[in-house]
Amino acid sequence: RIPEPCALVIFGVTGDLSKKKLIPAIYDLANRGLLPASFVIVGFARRDWGDETFEEMAREAAKSHARTPWREEVWARLAGNFKFVPGTFDDDEAFDRLDATVDELRETHGIVGNAAFYFSIPPLAFPTVLKQLQRTGMSDNRQDGGGWRRVVVEKPFGEDRASAHELNGLVDRVFTAPDVFRIDHYLGKETVQNIFALRFANAMFEPIWNSNYVDHVQITMAEDVGIGSRAGFYDDNGAARDVLQNHVLQLLAIAAMEQPNGFEAEEIRTEKLKVLRAIKLHDDLESTAIRGQYTDGWVQGRPVKGYLSEENIPATSTTETYAAVQLGIQNRRWNGVPFYLRTGKRLPKRVTEIAVVFKEAPHMPFADYDTKTLGNNQLVIRVQPDEGITVKFGSKVPGTGMELRDISMGFGYGETFTESSPEAYERLILDVLLGDKTLFPDAQEVDASWAVIDPLEEFWQGTKPEPYESGTWGPAGADLMLQASGRRWRRA
Ligand code: BG6
Repeated sequence: RIPEPCALVIFGVTGDLSKKKLIPAIYDLANRGLLPASFVIVGFARRDWGDETFEEMAREAAKSHARTPWREEVWARLAGNFKFVPGTFDDDEAFDRLDATVDELRETHGIVGNAAFYFSIPPLAFPTVLKQLQRTGMSDNRQDGGGWRRVVVEKPFGEDRASAHELNGLVDRVFTAPDVFRIDHYLGKETVQNIFALRFANAMFEPIWNSNYVDHVQITMAEDVGIGSRAGFYDDNGAARDVLQNHVLQLLAIAAMEQPNGFEAEEIRTEKLKVLRAIKLHDDLESTAIRGQYTDGWVQGRPVKGYLSEENIPATSTTETYAAVQLGIQNRRWNGVPFYLRTGKRLPKRVTEIAVVFKEAPHMPFADYDTKTLGNNQLVIRVQPDEGITVKFGSKVPGTGMELRDISMGFGYGETFTESSPEAYERLILDVLLGDKTLFPDAQEVDASWAVIDPLEEFWQGTKPEPYESGTWGPAGADLMLQASGRRWRRA
């Protein structure tokens, strides 16, 4: 499907997200022929750019970061459709100009009043921009001759349950709920969507996807990078608020949910929400809610500095760059199955995966044989990189004896498909323009996720994270958490 003619207004268009993700995704969509012929990108930011400078910057960004090959003729079709409105968020006049610009697009570019407003800005600025959109009437769906108005909000959605509630309330007062798109870019990842296919389009996985067969589940979101140039944001938030609250809990919800009645936004949301609301933290947070902070070390063969020596991080900061937590899901399917979540920066490599670890075979008739290298069966969904699925199980080693060993069987996107996967933002921007909310968490999910994180933050309040050397797999406490029950983290 191709969206209707429309404008995408990006607030904070001179920022990193826009340069690395949004503009390149727009180019990729154009390259795949998925944008309407009438499509305008309106940038709003403080910088004193004109339409031409904006177009040049966008071109550079797309050239450097797009996923699909560069084609001059594709850009040529987009090039005349960049508009820039300079201004600050509290500048009424600038917003009046923005309003007039969007209106003019009807005449100049055949945009029939459809516009999506993308908030690529610090959350502190959300209220001001929302009020401006309301004041100018830009947020109102056009009654005259049609035209929708949508808003796209980037995480973080608040910093705890109360502030998220307030923020959601504010957004809902200005836009109607179906027009609000909250981005969690993990839901736009190809492999994450494939979890639905794996579980619900096949007969063989779902019967064993429960506490009868599953021993535990491990969800890992590891990054080798540090905090980059986001010291201010990161130090105020930390790993749990930055990614556990959203990306990791969304992965868990999709891996653990019941089959939805259909593949529509409402149906999926209902099932994800049930899981999120059934999450229960362990009573003993001391040994099941672990946080860490990276120190000097080596990552991918290069020396890196510790968190406290990063630019603009106070030397006394107690913000965590690593978090690991054990939780349970209180429903029939998952009763008694621990879910272990971990995420961190400056770990040995970038890898995101969901590992479903099965129970041991109920009885093994190989008592006299060598089975010591045999582990539990595992089904591992690799979200990134090397997207794919691996199944690990025991096999007989060739020979006259009966030695058993773990082997793995794999499916890799790269080897199996010739089609290239769209980048997460490509998919999600397209869905916004199409008005398809299937891959966007709603306010209640955000609320249920904070309900999991708030008690962790409260427990951690006033404590110091455990140091871990950069380039290692996090603090010792995280290993002890699993060892306590005779388990261990997978070597991802
Ligand atoms: C963002 C977090 O949401 O996700 C970052 O704020 C993190 O801290 C990033 O680095 C990871 O995204 P991806 O797609 O590179 O795994």
